[in-house]
Amino acid sequence: MHKIGHRGAKGHVAENTLASFQKAIELGVDGIELDVHLSLDGKVMVIHDDTVDRTTSAKGLVKDFSAKELKPFDIPTLESVFELVKQKCFINIELKTFETADKVAELIERYISEKHWKYDDFIVSSFDWNALQQVHFLNDKIRIGVLTNTDLDLALAFAKFIKAYSVHPYYHLLTAENVTQMQSKNFKVYPWTINEQEDIIFVKSLNVDGIITDFPDRI
Ligand code: G3P
Ligand code: CA
Repeated sequence: MHKIGHRGAKGHVAENTLASFQKAIELGVDGIELDVHLSLDGKVMVIHDDTVDRTTSAKGLVKDFSAKELKPFDIPTLESVFELVKQKCFINIELKTFETADKVAELIERYISEKHWKYDDFIVSSFDWNALQQVHFLNDKIRIGVLTNTDLDLALAFAKFIKAYSVHPYYHLLTAENVTQMQSKNFKVYPWTINEQEDIIFVKSLNVDGIITDFPDRI
């Protein structure tokens, strides 16, 4: 079962920072999860919200700052995370906007063709299924993870349609039956975000394929 560090090791270090991804690696994760938006100059930036307000001392929309302006606020580029990770674990890139799809697919392709990374080094997930379709359209070898916090049946139907690699449900949607159903269709099941011991015991009892958590050391 895969241990996936949510926004790095969010329970220990400021989320979606290089330090957080480093901590997750030190805690022995199989994968890290992170979120992306585009900067003003079209760079893929690793940050959860569409504004910088919650996680930095600045204010404003991510898309109104250049990558250079965002750097002092500890907001890494996706490429700098690739350079830190260096294939030590897989990277689950969550697209927060449709506009990130082309740039993320392009970056993945570049690392595969120029730096000999593997498709197994990446999963691209999103609640925006149009963004996932766009990635699949650009390169159908990129592994797709279908995120849902509402309708698991619909997510499963879309996963079949798009030939996804995995389904990433909010863990309260899971039952033993629907996990088996997803796995019988060859989808990996990666629920989120599971932090408390009783919830960890519950999802482990369902034999999920991985757990996305703020505390990789608790899994
Ligand atoms: O990828 C799973 C999880 O991160 C989705 O929710 O809001 O933490 O990005 P959120
Ligand atoms: Ca996320």
